[in-house]
Amino acid sequence: MLKVSIKMLAIFAAVFMSSGCDDSANNDEQNIQIVMGTSADMPPFEFYKGSDIVGYDIDVAKAIAVEIGIKLAVRDMDFSALVPALQSGRVDMVLASMTPTPERRQVIDFSKPYLTLPLVVITRDDVSIKSVADLASKKIGVQLGSTHEQFAKDLASKDKSISVHSLNKLAELIQELKIGRVDAVVMETKTAKSFQKMNENLQLVPLDERTVSFAVAFPKDSKWQEKVNASIEKLHIAGRFEEIRQKWFSN
Ligand code: ARG
Repeated sequence: MLKVSIKMLAIFAAVFMSSGCDDSANNDEQNIQIVMGTSADMPPFEFYKGSDIVGYDIDVAKAIAVEIGIKLAVRDMDFSALVPALQSGRVDMVLASMTPTPERRQVIDFSKPYLTLPLVVITRDDVSIKSVADLASKKIGVQLGSTHEQFAKDLASKDKSISVHSLNKLAELIQELKIGRVDAVVMETKTAKSFQKMNENLQLVPLDERTVSFAVAFPKDSKWQEKVNASIEKLHIAGRFEEIRQKWFSN
């Protein structure tokens, strides 16, 4: 009798302990939150719909978080504040249509690219820009801290008739374009199309065959990088990126 109850107790303890362990493991995972920084001024990738931040990148980040089994918190800031936020550890990762560059790679890390798009300039109907050559003597608007700013500054360093105006938010640049304070704004094609749809009399001009990629950015030596890369791969194969693409890019 005594033998039996000891055995029972042992089984009970084993079951209890193992289920206890499982629970705490699950809870731990679910309680871990990954803080994502973004600059929610760039439709259809990251932008405000009412008080919510939505878009392609947000859906990609949510899918990654589900895949890894963690919570996602989103912090909005100026684009130029994102790299410093990664460096200081204020955010764990960035999805903000950010393009990996050698300069950025010196201070932060990137995932594999999750998207590649053509670069364009958006300009008014009354401005005659047909190609990069026509940017001579133009005022070019760019987002502060972006690769577009670097691109425009490089042009301006070769052609002194070009001037570069850097501002924090893309919507501010579109405003400047509409009132004639800049002649063209550099951005990715899908975003330019979104702004074109929201505003009259704007046209898009492709910049040669130039394309840019977007990747997830991390602080150096992040513990998340490998997990995020693995989940990006899985999501690709599972067709989740295609679904997200359809959702945000169809019309
Ligand atoms: N792809 C460009 C870059 O990496 C611009 C990204 C701007 N992103 C944004 N959310 N406003 O510099």
